[in-house]
Amino acid sequence: MLSQEDNDILCQVGPGTPMGEFMRHYWIPFAASTELPLDKTAPIRVRLLGENLVAYRLNGGEVGLIQDACPHRGASFFLGRNEGDGMRCIYHGWKFDREGTCVDMPSEPPESNFKNKVHARAYPCQERGGLIWTFMGETDILPPLPDIEANAAPDAEVTQQMMRKCNYMQALEGDIDTLHFAFLHTGHLEPGDAALDGNMLDIQIHNRRAELDVRETEFGTLYGASRPAGYDMDYWRIAGFMFPFYTLIPPGKLAANRWTRAWVPIDDENTMFFHMMAPPLGDADVHPESANVDMRFDKGQELLPDEPWNFHGRARSANGPEIGWGIDRSLIDQRISYTGLPGVHLEDQAVTESMGPIMDRTQERLGTSDKMIIQTRRRLIKSAKALRDKGISPPGCNRPEIYRQRSGGILLPEGVDWFEASAPFRKAFVDHSTETIKTTLGSTVS
Ligand code: FES
Ligand SMILES: [Fe+2]
Repeated sequence: MLSQEDNDILCQVGPGTPMGEFMRHYWIPFAASTELPLDKTAPIRVRLLGENLVAYRLNGGEVGLIQDACPHRGASFFLGRNEGDGMRCIYHGWKFDREGTCVDMPSEPPESNFKNKVHARAYPCQERGGLIWTFMGETDILPPLPDIEANAAPDAEVTQQMMRKCNYMQALEGDIDTLHFAFLHTGHLEPGDAALDGNMLDIQIHNRRAELDVRETEFGTLYGASRPAGYDMDYWRIAGFMFPFYTLIPPGKLAANRWTRAWVPIDDENTMFFHMMAPPLGDADVHPESANVDMRFDKGQELLPDEPWNFHGRARSANGPEIGWGIDRSLIDQRISYTGLPGVHLEDQAVTESMGPIMDRTQERLGTSDKMIIQTRRRLIKSAKALRDKGISPPGCNRPEIYRQRSGGILLPEGVDWFEASAPFRKAFVDHSTETIKTTLGSTVS
């Protein structure tokens, strides 16, 4: 439960709000590279941290990001003429370069110096691993992009992008809520359904509850959730939160996984989700949890056609709240799903959107399984207040190296300190042999 004041601090991301200012200290991924093809000049409307912007591709392949409304009389640059070295407003022909400098004002007399006094808000962009990033804060020296392996590895890509119709934190909390996997996504399975030597899903079905231990780290928060795995071993699902809106999720093998997810606030009530990943290391199966069960990872992810003129028109789910998230309760009767929702991602989408655009956290009742969520909110609120009240720099915004993290499942002997014992496997940009990967999560899993 949060006070209304703290919930507002957590959820509000517009200019001038504590969390909005906090997030503007970090690089922010806002679009997939494929949204701005190299051979196309057409701009797209982008809403980001509550600001209306227009993104476009420049001649050299760089990306420009400029305020939507022309500084003259507010016509949208979505209608603008992308001239390859800047954007020209179609209303009276004023032109602005990548930095937002007015470089041409043909509607004013040639001797006028008015153009030197007019500037458009424009943000620097960088591109890496299939994602376009921007920095919206005020700074003389830009920090480097975070060392997120799932985006920085040479074989990194964005494998999923989808808008979520709710606040970023509500969506993000689903990723750090490990317990729901055994209910929302697999509650229809019974002990034996996933039985297969070395299949970790079977362990979760036998023990839907888990022991949760949460640690504070310099990058954010990390949890280990354990269940007995037999043979004096415990199965640990290890996952985390990285400032300001990234999640590390727990399926797969810790030693092999290279993935990170971003929950980027479009505004207070909408979020853009990006799943970044590089292929798993070794030749072991990335989803040992689902070795012999159809987990429906690929179902229910259909998108509506993009509307680049619409600030909320990109990567929209075709199964939104307008159609009841496509629920089909015959799937429950057939024991295909616990929910009647066709896919795993859609199940996450439906429950978080069903709470409304901004969850009223003054009304919730948290249990022991919510420890990670409680700690993560606390960290975020505390850090945003520390910036607002004391000018303390947001954690990690100038330290790209702290983002070198991996998450996933691992078998550890009973009684060991999971945080210490898993440390070598949580380090990103480290290669492990297939043999090591297999021995950390069941040697019989192939
Ligand atoms: S409104 Fe853009 S040039 Fe006049
Ligand atoms: Fe989920």
